[in-house]
Amino acid sequence: VKFSSFGPLVGAIDEGTSSARFILYKAGTVEEVASYQEELSSIFPQEGWVEQNPKRILEVVNICISKTIDELVSKGGRVTDVVAVGITNQRESTIVWDKITGEPFYNSIVWLDVRTSSTIEQLLDQVPNNARNKNYLKILCGLPLNPYFSGVKARWLKDNISSVKKAMQAGTCMFGTVDTWLIWNLTGGINGGIHVTDCTNASRTMLMNIDTLKWDPVLLKFFDLPVTILPAIKSSSEIYGYISDGPLKGIPICGCLGDQHAALLGQMCLEKGEAKATYGTGCFLLYNTGATKINSAHGLLTTVGYKLGPNKPTVYALEGSVAVAGAALNWLKDNLNILEDFRDIEKIGKEAESVKSGEVYFVPAFSGLYAPYWQADARGIIAGITEDTTSNHIVRATLEAVCYQIRDILDAMSKDCKTPLKRLKVDGGMTANALLMQLQADLAGITVVKSSVLQSTALGAAIAAGAAVGHWEVEAGTINVPSKTWYPIYTDNERDVKYSKWKMAIERSLGWDN
Ligand code: G3P
Repeated sequence: VKFSSFGPLVGAIDEGTSSARFILYKAGTVEEVASYQEELSSIFPQEGWVEQNPKRILEVVNICISKTIDELVSKGGRVTDVVAVGITNQRESTIVWDKITGEPFYNSIVWLDVRTSSTIEQLLDQVPNNARNKNYLKILCGLPLNPYFSGVKARWLKDNISSVKKAMQAGTCMFGTVDTWLIWNLTGGINGGIHVTDCTNASRTMLMNIDTLKWDPVLLKFFDLPVTILPAIKSSSEIYGYISDGPLKGIPICGCLGDQHAALLGQMCLEKGEAKATYGTGCFLLYNTGATKINSAHGLLTTVGYKLGPNKPTVYALEGSVAVAGAALNWLKDNLNILEDFRDIEKIGKEAESVKSGEVYFVPAFSGLYAPYWQADARGIIAGITEDTTSNHIVRATLEAVCYQIRDILDAMSKDCKTPLKRLKVDGGMTANALLMQLQADLAGITVVKSSVLQSTALGAAIAAGAAVGHWEVEAGTINVPSKTWYPIYTDNERDVKYSKWKMAIERSLGWDN
């Protein structure tokens, strides 16, 4: 059947670390009309360095848009039905480019990159009274000093790339996270491109004041970065500009959120106390704290959840970030060659359970440990190996590692919020693995609820964009119904014994470089 019109459509660009996609939704619904996804590769020039080519990021996004529009048209749909486009993106990855030529000065420094460990050491020296407190700026920006965040990466670029320093001095350097780079280019680039970001992405830079949602002079002075490089901070749902070229020419870009914040919205975690975890390259748990900004005393981040319009309230979230989740499975496949196909993981993981002495613990601290430890020099550890250990045990230990890291975060959240979370909404590629989901319920002692919408991240960006132009009502419970629930089976004792061993492995990982 060919349709002459699908009604108003809202597009979502989802630019993640390992792939980009574009999805067209029927406005106000979870119904996908057309979509296209393309892989994106990273460059690893040195140990701990992770880069991507900014032009390739843009190219991949444009390919996804064109292919999706081709599919729409082949189904009898019309491009003129597209009323809005939203963007959601891998966060913290940092790009600097020339205002005059539009050329990047350097590759994107990806969020996982830890080259700035020495920059952090230098910055810690600046903390007054020789305190070297990594939480010194947390009250202003919600974040600890760590290589993860964009401000630190921008400072490294200034210190190490002479063209960047010169352009910063001349006022011709533009800074942006991936959302900013995409919006500037899609709205015209050197011919009038709009230099903006949204408050969720800005909340990951260490340069934005978490209370005022403005760039903070104290933070800029601390990092020694000029305000002239920074984009304007907008809400997550408003018209930023119009696409200047290609099949979507003239369509407003009117939604923008970091991917984890978009997933919070896509999972409809709109009430204080609701939380979601997205299992991708990393794994990120965001807990909606409403209008209250909670300063974590237990290693979590304070971040902007979303702000759905210039005059709408700011919704805050507490975040627990895990650097390595799906990335560890890639490592098993590509570096250890003990996994041929990701589809085998569930079977292998189950087999490992039936073999005795499977008490292997794997801490995949490839680029240090994030929440709640924030230790950049922690390193990976595989512990508990005996002569009976097989590669299957290591695969299972990799799945368990994701679950234990989430338990670390849930424990920290309980301490910060005083009420333990009872139900965790989950999404992301790894949630297709039912064994992982059962292990998550068992090892963290929590009910795990998977939504019927696989791409909650893209959906969140579409909701924000649709809402900005009056084509989406954001209401709790109207969309994204649960599709499957897992309940804990392990006893508390079983769970706690295993967790205490995980903590022993963590101790060894943290102490590796000491
Ligand atoms: O903070 C990094 C995060 O936004 C990356 O998400 O889905 O690419 O692992 P993902």
